[in-house]
Amino acid sequence: MKLTIIGTGYVGLVTGACFAEVGHTVYCVDNNEAKVKMLQAGGIPIYEPGLEEMVKKNVAAGRLNFTASTKEGVEKGDVVFIAVPTPPQPDGSVDLSYIETVARDIAAAMTSYKIIVDKSTVPVKTGEKVAETIKRYCKSKVEFDVVSNPEFLREGFAVEDLMKPDRVVIGTTSQRPVAAMKEVYTPFGAPIIVTDINSAELIKHAANSFLALKISYINAVANICEASGANVEEVATGMGMDIRIGRRFLNAGIGFGGSCFPKDLSAFIKISETLGYDFALLKEVQRINANQMERFLKKITDTLWVLRDKKIGVLGLAFKQNTDDCRTSPAIELCQKMLKEGAKLRVYDPKGMEKAKDLLKDTVTYVDDMDAVADGCDALVIATEWPEFKKLDLTRTRKALSHPIVFDGRNLFDPKEMEALGFIYKSVGR
Ligand code: UGA
Repeated sequence: MKLTIIGTGYVGLVTGACFAEVGHTVYCVDNNEAKVKMLQAGGIPIYEPGLEEMVKKNVAAGRLNFTASTKEGVEKGDVVFIAVPTPPQPDGSVDLSYIETVARDIAAAMTSYKIIVDKSTVPVKTGEKVAETIKRYCKSKVEFDVVSNPEFLREGFAVEDLMKPDRVVIGTTSQRPVAAMKEVYTPFGAPIIVTDINSAELIKHAANSFLALKISYINAVANICEASGANVEEVATGMGMDIRIGRRFLNAGIGFGGSCFPKDLSAFIKISETLGYDFALLKEVQRINANQMERFLKKITDTLWVLRDKKIGVLGLAFKQNTDDCRTSPAIELCQKMLKEGAKLRVYDPKGMEKAKDLLKDTVTYVDDMDAVADGCDALVIATEWPEFKKLDLTRTRKALSHPIVFDGRNLFDPKEMEALGFIYKSVGR
């Protein structure tokens, strides 16, 4: 099929590459001309496992094209996907101005029937607004359908999630776009669920908020484990073996971050409020998450007492493993809190160093080798769940630290083994 994707951020770029990979011809549109040139030349603005090779391969095969012209994109594609940012506003609601602008641009460029698909995460009822806007700004009486098709990819696993989705959600009020939408997704071999537009939009916010709730739930349980001497890993494993619960997203730690969960939770609370419902449960999810960071910081100050001029090594800056994304990262927040207390930080992240520099500037020392982070430090903090941190040379680390203290905010090591190696080891919920 001929598919257009407007916006080449995380969702747009990975979706475009995966659509091309299964044989569709894809036109990716972005109004940032420098970015378009970079992509045309095979450059990738983000780190995402498997993406660069996939983009290069499909550009070379002529199936993946980049342009700065919405008009050209809309003319060429039968289905036009909107994948632009929907950032949070200070009151927690969603800024839909990019969506509105793109809807007007599409309307202005349309000369034949188009299926316009919203992939960005948006509040329920946005599809209705997009349809109204297109109708209003369309020059001639061109027919179109608006579809909601939320994206469920995780950063760091985006290619894998897109190529093998658990499900594909197609929200539409008309039968006309259903066959074409199924044709787009059939090559991915996933179950397809067709709903009305409002339900599809809600599925995304409800799913992300539920996953965030799962994390806050296990973090709250971790706090009870600490108070009672139980082990949260064992509790999570025992709970997760019930297939109604599942083990995934039951990892306790310093809380969730990233550009989705915090934003989507706030948005869902705000949407509910607008619709006349106080979603207090989700406010508690936010409260537990914020508190989790404070509890971890307290563990550090309880042990080290005064942080002023203490040298602390920090492993992990990205908001989770497998990504260079440091936006709304709990690791960055933790660094900022320790800096505020006067600590001197030596930091390392396998992929996130460059992006962390934009946030932490020259307030920390950047170390390019994970084993050297601990050198001369009073303690080591693990803030991101990168699997490679498990390969840390622990004997070297113990010798390199002036005091063998490790605060593990992601439970990467076994407490008994760490103690046997001579560490004072503090993790979460065990
Ligand atoms: C999340 C969802 O998982 C995706 O399904 C969704 O498509 C995406 O948001 C989105 O809305 O675009 P993402 O933000 O990329 O994906 O990352 P996650 O893997 O969900 O992790 C989010 C945060 O939760 C990270 O800070 C991670 O460290 C934390 N987390 C995750 C935990 O603290 N414990 C866990 O057990 C799992």
